[in-house]
Amino acid sequence: MNEKIDESVVVPVITIDGPGGSGKGTVSRLIAGQLGWHFLDSGALYRLVALVALKRQLDLSVGSEISLIASKLDVEFKVDSGCGEAQILLEGRSVGDEIRSEQCADSASKVAALPAVREALLQRQRDFRCSPGLVADGRDMGSVVFPHAELKIFLDASAEERAQRRYKQLKEKGMSANLVTLLEEIQVRDARDRNRSVAPLIPAAGAILVDSTTQEIDEVVAGILEKWFKLT
Ligand code: DC
Repeated sequence: MNEKIDESVVVPVITIDGPGGSGKGTVSRLIAGQLGWHFLDSGALYRLVALVALKRQLDLSVGSEISLIASKLDVEFKVDSGCGEAQILLEGRSVGDEIRSEQCADSASKVAALPAVREALLQRQRDFRCSPGLVADGRDMGSVVFPHAELKIFLDASAEERAQRRYKQLKEKGMSANLVTLLEEIQVRDARDRNRSVAPLIPAAGAILVDSTTQEIDEVVAGILEKWFKLT
């Protein structure tokens, strides 16, 4: 994954940005699987930084300390042969479930608002751009990290629908969940992500807006792949 980009070889990138729960993680993974491309889950990087900071009981608003964590993050995404979730290893230890907690999501949104943290993660994200192509999932993939991406998608869904999806996910895992609380948490996180001064969650210039509120995942995937094949 550390392969440097040879400017003479264009490695195509599809960026899929949007708020949490819009389905972009699943959609991105499926598209990467179907195209045989690499996949970048940029949110996982912010969640990993948050996890380390939480464990060290750091003040999540101090950019200098948190960005040091970001620049030294010892992480490996172990991809399986299918298009399932990669195993995420932090210093060799699997932390996939830990970083998906609501506490980690909330803390990730806080550390992601720190400019120094975003800067520290920038090159690491760009290094995922390897042949034959990359599907990059996040908030600023099309606007900041890969501004020259061949195809940019902004995937949205209503906050109510996203809260429902999260509620269902947690229940399926046998975890307790409260729909009203989940909706409130999503709205707070959305506001923080959309209103921060650096790389706010907004559609990138040239991004195509896709609303997944009433669409099944397969329909969204098919629609995006159709757009990609029309371009090539
Ligand atoms: O996509 P996610 O829920 O795993 O992201 C976790 C947090 O990280 C989310 O609150 C916003 C932040 N994030 C970001 O600011 N920029 C990205 N490219 C990806 C995620």
